Formats: sequence, C-alpha cells, structure tokens
Amino acid sequence: MWEKVQETVNFLKEKGIKTPDFGIILGTGLGNLVEKITIEIAIPYDEIVNFPVSTVEGHSGELIYGKIGNKKVIAMRGRFHYYEGWSIHETVFPVRVMKYLGVEQLIVSNASGGVNPAFEVGDIMVITDHINLMPEHPLNGANENRFGPRFVDMHEAYSKKMISKMDVVAEKLDVPLHKGIYLALQGPTFETPAEYKMVKILGADAVGMSTVPEVIVAKHMGMECFGVSVITDLGVEGVVESVSHEEVQEVAKKSEKIVGRLVEEFIKL
Ligand code: HPA
Repeated sequence: MWEKVQETVNFLKEKGIKTPDFGIILGTGLGNLVEKITIEIAIPYDEIVNFPVSTVEGHSGELIYGKIGNKKVIAMRGRFHYYEGWSIHETVFPVRVMKYLGVEQLIVSNASGGVNPAFEVGDIMVITDHINLMPEHPLNGANENRFGPRFVDMHEAYSKKMISKMDVVAEKLDVPLHKGIYLALQGPTFETPAEYKMVKILGADAVGMSTVPEVIVAKHMGMECFGVSVITDLGVEGVVESVSHEEVQEVAKKSEKIVGRLVEEFIKL
C-alpha cells in the first residue's frame, strides 16, 4: 500500500497538484460543493494511477484541485463505498494519497438517515463522533508504521477545533446545525424499522454507509477530521417511511447549497 500511495502521489504532483490545505470528500448529492472551487486541475479517477473507479449512479468520479478563496483544496467528487464491492482498503486509498500530498485537515460530507426524533428531513448534522459497525476494518492486517501506529487513539475522531470553527461560521450565516453521532453500516439496503431502532438504542443520531472508514485512516495518519451530514430521510419510530436513492439525492440537492456555503466560509476563515 505504501508504495502504491507514493506512486499515485508522484503522479498527481507531476500533474501539478501542490500541497493542498484541505482535503474534501464530497458525498451523495453534495457534489455541487465543487461549484465553490476555482478548479485548476480535474482528473477522472480512471486516469489516476492505482485509483479505484466508482460505479454508483449519481457518483461521478473525479479528483479536483483548485482554490477556495486563497486556500488550496483537493476534492474527491465521488467516493468509494464498501458496498460497491471494493475492499475496505481500496475505499480509503484516496485518503492516504491526500495525506501524502500534504493535507492535514479533511472535510467529509455524506447523506444519512436520521434516528433522532428532533431531526427533520433536510436538516444538517455536524458529526461529533461515530460508531463503526462496518463489517471490515480499514486498518486490519499488518500495520504500515510509516502511515501510523498499530493502535490508533480515537478519543477525538472529529476535531473539536474544526467543530468550533464551524459553529462560528454557522452563526455568521444564521444556519441551524444539529450535532450528533453517525453510525456506519455497510448497506446497500436502507435500514428496516427494527434496524433504525437499533441504531438509536446504540446511541447514534444518524446512520449511513460511508465516512467512518475514511475518518479512521485519516486519524491513523494524524489528520484532523470534520464531518457533515445531510439528513435525507428519517428512521424515527412511527415516522419511518419508504426511502429511495432518488429521494436521498433530491433532499441532498436541496441542502447542498447551504452546506456548500458553510464549507466555503469554513475554508476561507
Ligand atoms: N440509511 C443509510 N444510509 C443512508 C440513509 C439511511 O437512511 N439515508 C442516506 N444514506
């Protein structure tokens, strides 16, 4: 993995990508955050050495490098989900690459199902912590000490400093934000009412199919992480309704403008 990461990093540096200040993973339906970036370089995943190629409808695959204000950013337009059939190690490969391009702060967005009764469809939740129930761990196998330690401290998986900074931005823009715990399941099925109930009993506020593996490897390599989730459907007892990928995309699309503004201001600050 180490050699492959270095090979991809060298490839991207040769393409002109220089030490980005922030790495951004644009999740389901939040791809439009890309409009905030003054794009300098965009490379389709299938042209990047060693990169997996995304297959899911609504997830275009492109690595974007450019600027937001005077900050340099590298953004993944489309991510690699475990349910697509990638190994858990493949899903997190781009995060490894971001680190060795020089990224120290990672911003991750996703869509999720809310199980907190105070949530409504379209709400935005800042992730304060996570529960990892993915069936495979991205750090399983022999540890690569050059990436980080065997046993990774996770007491602050989501940077308190970054969360406080977003609080300032949200207040300035007058955007209400929830805070909560994100639980990751592999999908690709949405949850049954009984599973949503389980998610709530376990102490989470929202459930989704991504983000956690990426944050784990980012922490492994000592990066600071910030996660934001759009609540696209509700798994609240008595309120559970049918949900489809199209609905998730539609809600995420409505909220993405505001998430885009928040992240834009966050990066500029
Ligand atoms: N469950 C899991 N993943 C999701 C959901 C959900 O309800 N909504 C959007 N992504």
